[in-house]
Amino acid sequence: MITTNFKIEIDEKRGAEILQEIMRDQMGGWLDLPKKYDMGEFAKIKEAAERIQDESEYLVCIGIGGSYLGHRAIIEALQPRSGTKIVYAGNSLSERELKRALEEVGDADFSINVISKSGTTLEPAIAFEAFKKKLFEKYGEDAKNRIYATTDARTGTLHDEAAINGYTMFVVPDDIGGRYSVLTAVGLLPMAVAGVDIDKLLEGAAEAVESVIKPAMEYATMRHSLGMKGYDTEVFASFEPATMYFNEWLKQLFGESEGKNKQGILPTAVIYSTDLHSLGQFMQDGRRNLFETIIDYPTDEMNAKVVKAVKIAHAQGGIPVLAIDVSSYDEKGFGELVYFFELACAISAKMFGVNPFDQPGVEAYKHELKRLIGEI
Ligand code: PA5
Repeated sequence: MITTNFKIEIDEKRGAEILQEIMRDQMGGWLDLPKKYDMGEFAKIKEAAERIQDESEYLVCIGIGGSYLGHRAIIEALQPRSGTKIVYAGNSLSERELKRALEEVGDADFSINVISKSGTTLEPAIAFEAFKKKLFEKYGEDAKNRIYATTDARTGTLHDEAAINGYTMFVVPDDIGGRYSVLTAVGLLPMAVAGVDIDKLLEGAAEAVESVIKPAMEYATMRHSLGMKGYDTEVFASFEPATMYFNEWLKQLFGESEGKNKQGILPTAVIYSTDLHSLGQFMQDGRRNLFETIIDYPTDEMNAKVVKAVKIAHAQGGIPVLAIDVSSYDEKGFGELVYFFELACAISAKMFGVNPFDQPGVEAYKHELKRLIGEI
């Protein structure tokens, strides 16, 4: 359910047309995925997760952007129990950070899940080389049985290497792009290893396939309409510190889906009450070009009072505030929430007249970086 302190007319006809467009889009494979998940692959994911849990103290998850943020968001939010700890690598080019990750694993038993749809992204490629070296030094040829590659079904450097060496492979479906891939093997394998109940997660998402259409359309219409009125920044506000990476996933989802052709709303995020003591002043009284989207997770009594206080104070400060009620703080709730935001984001991007599923700007950076590295 969405509540607001402002009124906006919803053009249901336009919303329905956009939904049809997304359904016809060749990158719309995530739309009905939770309802028609390949149960053979699902069983393979669970089997691999159990094997990793049996064999390894650490699973090194290597990936960036859509190949990383979604599963980290849910793992950090739910903090499930598992004997296998997840270590993230390949999400920056910081040598210091890579060294830290290598040292964290130390002499412990570990496996690697390298995730890259293109199989050519530089950050994960470099981290993979470093961890592969460590793995082969520790296990010799047996290292190959500890590498799990999630990548394109047919092409790419990572695909070819995995096929030649017999790594266990999982596929990023052709019709699903990085940031819409949380509920594929990209996210499901690391989540299962970390102890997230992936059955419940998919159950939540499957229920959302029908139930969130209307609220997603409403939310997309609201943000588009606010954007057209000059509210060009959206502040996602959560009152649960453990959801910081969910905020990061949201920033990526909306930023990469919508920010093109000089269009879109700049997504940013805060954790309250912490950030009420840093950005709170600006929120209350700074430049009025922003609106606030509260992600209202079920919470304790005191924290609920903070939510209420923020809604009242920020409305008084002239901020359009909308709140999205999250049904439950568990796997089902997050499955539903992921699907809700994916759908709302795709609809919203279409309303801005841009393609929600490409990221030409990111490709431009990747291209420049490769050119500069070539010069060294
Ligand atoms: O959402 C996206 O498509 C991007 O964020 C990609 O996931 C990111 O650039 C990593 O790409 P790849 O999975 O090809 O390594």
